[in-house]
Amino acid sequence: MASSSLAKALATVLIYISLCNALGALPPLGSQGINLWKLQQQQQAVKLSLTVQNPSNSGVEEFPVQWFQQPLDHFDSSSGHTFGQRYWVNKRHYEPGTGGPVIVLDGGETSGEDRIPFLDTGIVEILARATGGLGVVLEHRYYGESIAVENLTTDSLRWLNNEQAAADSANFMANVKFDGIDEDLTAPGTPWIYYGGSYAGARAAHMKILYPELVFGAIASSGVTHATIVYWEYFDIIRTAAEPKCSYHIQKSIETIDRLLSTKRLAHPLKALFGLPDLQHDEDFVSLLETPLNSWQAKNWDPAFGSNVFDEFCDALNKPPFGFLAADVADLEFEDPARMISLPGGLSLDFAIVNYANWTKQNVVSTCPEGSTQEECFGTFNNSQYAATTLDQTWRLWQFQVCTQWGFFMPAPPPGYPRIVSNLITLDYESKICKQAYAPGKYFTVPPLPNVTAVDVLGDFDIAADRLAIIDGEVDPWRPATPHSQYAMDRDDTVLRPFKLIPHAVHHYDEYGLKNLSDEPPEIRKIHGEMIAFVMEWLKDWTPPKEDQ
Ligand SMILES: *[C@@H]1O[C@H](CO)[C@@H](O)[C@H](O)[C@H]1NC(C)=O
Ligand SMILES: *[C@@H]1O[C@H](CO)[C@@H](O)[C@H](O)[C@H]1NC(C)=O
Ligand SMILES: *[C@@H]1O[C@H](CO)[C@@H](O)[C@H](O)[C@H]1NC(C)=O
Ligand SMILES: *[C@@H]1O[C@H](CO)[C@@H](O)[C@H](O)[C@H]1NC(C)=O
Ligand SMILES: *[C@@H]1O[C@H](CO)[C@@H](O)[C@H](O)[C@H]1NC(C)=O
Repeated sequence: MASSSLAKALATVLIYISLCNALGALPPLGSQGINLWKLQQQQQAVKLSLTVQNPSNSGVEEFPVQWFQQPLDHFDSSSGHTFGQRYWVNKRHYEPGTGGPVIVLDGGETSGEDRIPFLDTGIVEILARATGGLGVVLEHRYYGESIAVENLTTDSLRWLNNEQAAADSANFMANVKFDGIDEDLTAPGTPWIYYGGSYAGARAAHMKILYPELVFGAIASSGVTHATIVYWEYFDIIRTAAEPKCSYHIQKSIETIDRLLSTKRLAHPLKALFGLPDLQHDEDFVSLLETPLNSWQAKNWDPAFGSNVFDEFCDALNKPPFGFLAADVADLEFEDPARMISLPGGLSLDFAIVNYANWTKQNVVSTCPEGSTQEECFGTFNNSQYAATTLDQTWRLWQFQVCTQWGFFMPAPPPGYPRIVSNLITLDYESKICKQAYAPGKYFTVPPLPNVTAVDVLGDFDIAADRLAIIDGEVDPWRPATPHSQYAMDRDDTVLRPFKLIPHAVHHYDEYGLKNLSDEPPEIRKIHGEMIAFVMEWLKDWTPPKEDQ
């Protein structure tokens, strides 16, 4: 797609997302059916969450941007190349002369600007207020404006990895000099509490393991400490946690769609029903059917901040089309004769599939701008689509981390397992972008599959340390990759090693907060209270390190 039509597509996508009430903070961005449209949508969605949460940009003036100089390569200083890393400081509660603590929030895989709400009313503000501490949001290298390179070619991306990013944080903690504060608040002379959600949650846990002398305490919220190549469990959480009738309808619809696609005669009328007659590859077609499922993760306990798209989709799916059928057919078995609708091209389908098609046409297909073909908008097999390496191609960043160290590809579950995604979604399909988008460079080549060992050697499901808190959400699709996974050992919840699961919660529900905690729903108020309590207890144990003689 030419860049001008891509820009048009983006404008449309933005409108679509804002109509859908925007998505909450998304990370870690999985590779859920990769095409440019989805990648750009994910990037834009993260950005948009700031606009919605913070419409007047209030707070931004209170927290002016600051810069910290970092070496591009912490492990080979010979090039001498450096870059400015952005950060923002909340001094509202800091009491000079008290020596901290410093509460730092790792920006993770998005612009640090998107995290300012957490500095203003979210977890950083909450903990800084409780402890009289200084709050900080630290942007991750390569994201936002913390950029050290001129383009995003494979070679230029070679310093975007866990080891370099962890070294950035350590260097920052040990050397930062805060504007307008005379006191030395660096680690280890000051207690630092390191917070992260999602990918950044895994980083918070890793920081406690890698730099225990600098990180006094860490909180890993929805921290995906188990990196894995195949991650079909993501959609399985949604299958089991969604409203049962909706989940049943998705499951049955997808099974039927897979069956119809395998009969070449009905595949075309079926795709036409969904408004996608011109999409060449059936994989791309079924990948688009995951669009509503991807909005599960964007739910938030505050509907003004999160997305309602998943629930709207379920309502649309479950409702017998008016005028076609009696309302009481909704409780009959899938494909009961009373539920069937006859359609052009010899199709006869359960009404849930017809609703699925209508929803997809209205909410997904309609975002493809006039003048672009469906293949250009939703196809993923044309390598030229991925050729641009200019700095505005920000989808290349997290995708690079996926392809090199994190994985989380989401094919269909193993054979015979109940599923809400198509069997056509394979590991090859989900991971092909790693080959398509990252041509081998002179200095670096993206491996055929990511080396997730580098993440998992740091502790995986069993990662643990004193003053490392693990907080997860009960119905978070990322939970199976956290220490609260069904594959992890159970553990006790103690003050020194908090281990807390927020009931009914999705993705890092504790990160976001309201100015007045008593306005939060009970489960969120409870976790925030517990977090304040354990951090206060930790700080009682603080003693400054002895000076070296
Ligand atoms: C692939 O994409 C490029 C650039 O977007 C376009 O010029 C080309 O026509 C496309 N090729 C096919 C076969 O569609
Ligand atoms: C990318 O940037 C590097 C220098 O940072 C430069 O040597 C290289 O030619 C650039 N490549 C492209 C395709 O722009
Ligand atoms: C199709 O979807 C639109 C918008 O979501 C809705 O207004 C309309 O009633 C739906 N049509 C049918 C036949 O369900
Ligand atoms: C993967 O990473 C681990 C840990 O960093 C390393 O020991 C191993 O050699 C790597 N494997 C490959 C195939 O590069
Ligand atoms: C917070 O909200 C509660 C209940 O709505 C109210 O009683 C209290 O005064 C509020 N506190 C502040 C500081 O506004």
